[in-house]
Amino acid sequence: MSTPATFKLDLPVRPRRLRRTAARRELMRETQVRPADLIAPLFVVEGVAAPQEIASMPGQFRLSLPDLVKECRELWSLGVRAVTLFPKLDPAIKDAEGTEELNEEGLILRAVRAVKMAVPELVVITDVALDPYTSHGHDGVLNLAGDDVNNDATVGRLAAMAVRQARAGVDFVAPSDMMDGRVGAIRAALDAAGFVETGILAYSVKFNSAYYGPFREAVGSAQAAGTKLLSKATYQLDPANRRAALAEAELDEAEGADILMVKPAGAYLDIIRDVRERSDRPLAAYQVSGEYAQIHAAARLGWLDLERARDESLLAIKRAGADLILTYFAKDVARALA
Ligand code: PBG
Repeated sequence: MSTPATFKLDLPVRPRRLRRTAARRELMRETQVRPADLIAPLFVVEGVAAPQEIASMPGQFRLSLPDLVKECRELWSLGVRAVTLFPKLDPAIKDAEGTEELNEEGLILRAVRAVKMAVPELVVITDVALDPYTSHGHDGVLNLAGDDVNNDATVGRLAAMAVRQARAGVDFVAPSDMMDGRVGAIRAALDAAGFVETGILAYSVKFNSAYYGPFREAVGSAQAAGTKLLSKATYQLDPANRRAALAEAELDEAEGADILMVKPAGAYLDIIRDVRERSDRPLAAYQVSGEYAQIHAAARLGWLDLERARDESLLAIKRAGADLILTYFAKDVARALA
């Protein structure tokens, strides 16, 4: 039974009018993703070997310093204004205390200096957490019993780590560890050392997520611990908890975070919206490694269109209320927009 073409509704409001042509749709578009909204996470390794692709993150590489600098120049020329750097260290130099992090000539500090020298205007962000350095893969140092991260001892280490990164020239330090009180301690340490212009991008709402799997492969934190299932449940947030998430964001704001962040992004759009409504600070969201891997995997199977799924995922994160998005798609999207 087909509807007769003569059937007519008497409708004063027809929302489809606004979607009738491509030009009308463009006029009506409420949300846009710009290259300058994106922050590119990059992985750095020692030596001068060719870029090594990360198996579970197609198109993402562990870069030597010269390749890192090249990548940063390219991102800058595409309109991306910020990068965040993660070191992948040789397991042989990791230990329980993450001693290598104290090295003033350590990989990440040299990487920061090299990028700042080559592309001075590019905003450089570094992670403040010990997981790339520890043999157990945790973000901090352990307590005497060895069964949990020692909060206060870890915060002491992180504050000193942030000052080292500031001295190397970073624009923002990004504590990703979820220890209590670390934002305040880092702010105080930076100020005491004279780095009042170095900002804090706080991983305020970081959930204990399965979506970090590919990242842990990239920096070797789970392998170092000899497990695929490293649990950070005593410090990262329970994915079930919304009130606890908002409490964390509030604390970081009160302690002096310049930018708040929610992580992961795609499965936590409600939390992004909640934080957006409660705080006037700039808000970042991290589309993490597992979100990137998921889209690529489905695209490889021919089950999703890569570009459309990518763009839609980022649009959703912005629409939810994020000003900035850390995403492994940064370069591809910036190129597509160029
Ligand atoms: C660790 C850190 C993690 C990520 C950024 N910093 C993973 C973890 O907590 O184990 C995850 C990023 C990603 O999955 O893309 N301090």
